[in-house]
Order: sequence, then structure tokens, then C-alpha cells
Amino acid sequence: MESNEVISLVEEAIKARENSYCVYSHFAVGAALRTKDGRIFHGTNIENASFGLTLCAERTCLFNAISNGVNKDDIMELAIVADTEKPVSPCGACRQVIFELTNKDVRIYLSNLKKEVLHMSKYDLIPYCFDGSDLD
Ligand code: THU
Repeated sequence: MESNEVISLVEEAIKARENSYCVYSHFAVGAALRTKDGRIFHGTNIENASFGLTLCAERTCLFNAISNGVNKDDIMELAIVADTEKPVSPCGACRQVIFELTNKDVRIYLSNLKKEVLHMSKYDLIPYCFDGSDLD
């Protein structure tokens, strides 16, 4: 049984998904994050005829929040949703970006339209990640 907090963020990601621009793949993805002070930011996937320019929902969501002045330490939880049989699996690029732009305690909810939820830490998503400390 998921808490109201988890389900409400999954529902925000479902709302975000409604704005998907996925005219090529027809695979709509939504993401939503909640900050410690309760603000919600949305992101969805935005495709391009030059396929490599597509931006995934997770990165759009994080870039949206950061662009609006959110500090990574303020991001409490992030939900990601697609119309998949099992909770959606974020791509490798998004795992790397989630790792960069969140702190160690962020709670990540992988979900689908049935609101099945897999709870992850960022370390579950990308173990032994290349990060800023490797540049020291
Ligand atoms: N997509 C995401 O938005 N997030 C992911 O983690 C996986 C893939 C999008 C990119 C593209 O628009 C569509 O899903 C199919 O790959």
C-alpha cells in the first residue's frame, strides 16, 4: 500500500505526461518532483525529427526545477511514469543526470499508469556512478 504522498506525486507525473511531444515514438513519459517546501515541478519527453535531440521526461523535469532556482538539496522525491507493463525504467543518460542533480536522500518512484511503484535510491539506479569527485 503506497502512501498518499507517493501516489499524489505519481499522479503529478501522469499529468505531466499529458503534455508529451512524442510524435515519433508515441511513447509518452511524465516526471514530477517535489521540493522540501512542497513545490511540484513537471517534465515530459520532447522529441525532435533529429532523434538525438530528444529530451527525456526526467531531464526536462530536473532542468525545469533547477532553472526555477531549486537547489538539489531541496529535491525530496521524483516520480517517473509511462504506459508500461512494469514500472518504467529510466534510460542511462537520465540516471546519470538524476545522480548529478539530486542529493543522497532523494526518493525515486518508478511507476506506470496502473500506479504500481518501485522505490529506488539514486544509487540503485546507477551504482559506482562517475561524478564530480572523479574530477578531483
Ligand atoms: N524516454 C524518456 O522520456 N525517459 C526515459 O527514461 C526513457 C525514454 C523517452 C525518450 C523518447 O521520447 C521516448 O521515451 C522513446 O524512447
